[in-house]
Amino acid sequence: MRLTYTSDLWYKNAVIYCLDVETYKDGNGDGVGDFRGLTQQIDYLHSLGITCLWLMPFFPTPNKDDGYDITDFYSIDPRLGTLGDFVEFMRTAKDRGIRVIADLVVNHTSDQHPWFKESRSSKDSPLRDWYVWSDKPEPDDPSQIVFPDKENSIWQLDKKTGQYYLHSFYRHQPDLNVANPEVRDEIARVLGFWMELGLSGFRVDAVPFLIENVGDKLPDPHAFLADLRAFMSRREGGAVLLGEVNMPYKDLVSYFGDGNGDQLTMCFDFIGMQRAWLAFARSEAGPISQTLGDRPKPPKDCQWATFLRNHDELTLDKLTDEERQEVFDAFGPDKDMQIYGRGLRRRLPAMFGGDLRRIKMAYSLLFSMPGTPVIFYGEEIGMGDNLDEEGRMAVRTPMQWSQSGGFSDAPPVRGIPGGSFAPERVNVADQKRDPDSLLRWFQLLIERYRECPELAWGDNTVLETGHPSVFAHRCDADGATVVAVHNLSDIAAEIDLALEGLDGCVLTDLLADETMEVADGTVRLPMSPHGCRWLRAAPRGDMPPEDASIIAH
Ligand code: NOJ
Repeated sequence: MRLTYTSDLWYKNAVIYCLDVETYKDGNGDGVGDFRGLTQQIDYLHSLGITCLWLMPFFPTPNKDDGYDITDFYSIDPRLGTLGDFVEFMRTAKDRGIRVIADLVVNHTSDQHPWFKESRSSKDSPLRDWYVWSDKPEPDDPSQIVFPDKENSIWQLDKKTGQYYLHSFYRHQPDLNVANPEVRDEIARVLGFWMELGLSGFRVDAVPFLIENVGDKLPDPHAFLADLRAFMSRREGGAVLLGEVNMPYKDLVSYFGDGNGDQLTMCFDFIGMQRAWLAFARSEAGPISQTLGDRPKPPKDCQWATFLRNHDELTLDKLTDEERQEVFDAFGPDKDMQIYGRGLRRRLPAMFGGDLRRIKMAYSLLFSMPGTPVIFYGEEIGMGDNLDEEGRMAVRTPMQWSQSGGFSDAPPVRGIPGGSFAPERVNVADQKRDPDSLLRWFQLLIERYRECPELAWGDNTVLETGHPSVFAHRCDADGATVVAVHNLSDIAAEIDLALEGLDGCVLTDLLADETMEVADGTVRLPMSPHGCRWLRAAPRGDMPPEDASIIAH
């Protein structure tokens, strides 16, 4: 495998780090994170090894949905800085080789957006058709209500004109009508604007809602995604659309553009994520093997984005009721930890009771899975949640830089976790000095992941381990092979792995100082409780595997 591929198709083995400017680092002492603060932390992100930042919405907003309710797509929320600060940030990130993508939230706007104010002013408004209006909407299907704690319909009567407007999310977030060509043009203009300022693409919010709300008003709603992708690629060949599409695999593939791969460049693997949590709850490999077994291969040049947690609830909506209950019982038994009847508002380390071995194994598994890993700020130091914060905000607390918090000198925008996840116990400064810390583990995983591009996009095969708790898979590309083995349980195990075509090879454990040989086509592997191994295969007597990982492809 040629290393040059990994620069053209940079996103296929990128390491994406999601953060909210508001909660990352306060640069002006007002208790709210901002672009100046974030810019000062770029070297931290660079030393962590991440290659792409995903910024959550940073646009002007009444902030009723943490910025996912936008009033101006062409500007910066004044609490977070100015366009000048943004450009300085972009320049610094670029200097450190870090790409930046941002949330593209165009399924809806805030109801305070001037477009909506104009649209709702009269049935004859020139912008009336920019939103979705109806005299008498269809009765609601309860499964369509995304936030059942706050809403009981996706239609809201607007008294002034006597019509209802569609809102797939909160009632203060009216859906844009992308069947209207002027709206589609405006969305393209938004993309073009931020690309001129250096963005390498977008995380596209709520994609199925975006194209489904046009119903039968467009002959092919997916053509809108293809048009958007084509527009973006004309402007910048390497730019990407990373889509939020939480759907069964069979329905999801069409969002890549079926066989053509001309719509979303990447899609989050929500199904794989949910099955990983089922596997953790059971300490069993089965659900993960199932993912690799039935997850479709993305079309050429497309990629899966893998993750364990994000800024939203840990949604378990695609598990059966019984499976979801298993995960609730294991990781969120209290009602207060659960949300919307389908998810958990917790961070992973808290769910694992702070068990460092288990936490390290989970992230090792994430980075070894075929796809591009996406991590949420604070995961790299094992931040916990703050259940005193409302709803999903429990996992969006300020980044913990030092024992005193280090986020801001002023009272922070959101409450900081206490107890065993308080900044005194969990912070960047301490973990930088500790060779066994989670932060150091992430640095190692990222370095190794980048050295092994076959993990991200090679051909992968699930291997028989003969042990229900041990998951093993191999990734092959152009004659290079990496084998990854993970023990999901807290009991040690020993497994025999048959490794076809690797007889006589030396396996170097890239996460530990150890080598072993494949004899008669098999290798015996002791696995410690929650142990993990990434094994690079090289013919005996070949060049040192460390170098082989880069050059031998
Ligand atoms: C998905 C985002 O991830 C979520 O945080 C937001 O509330 C909804 N879309 C609405 O924009």
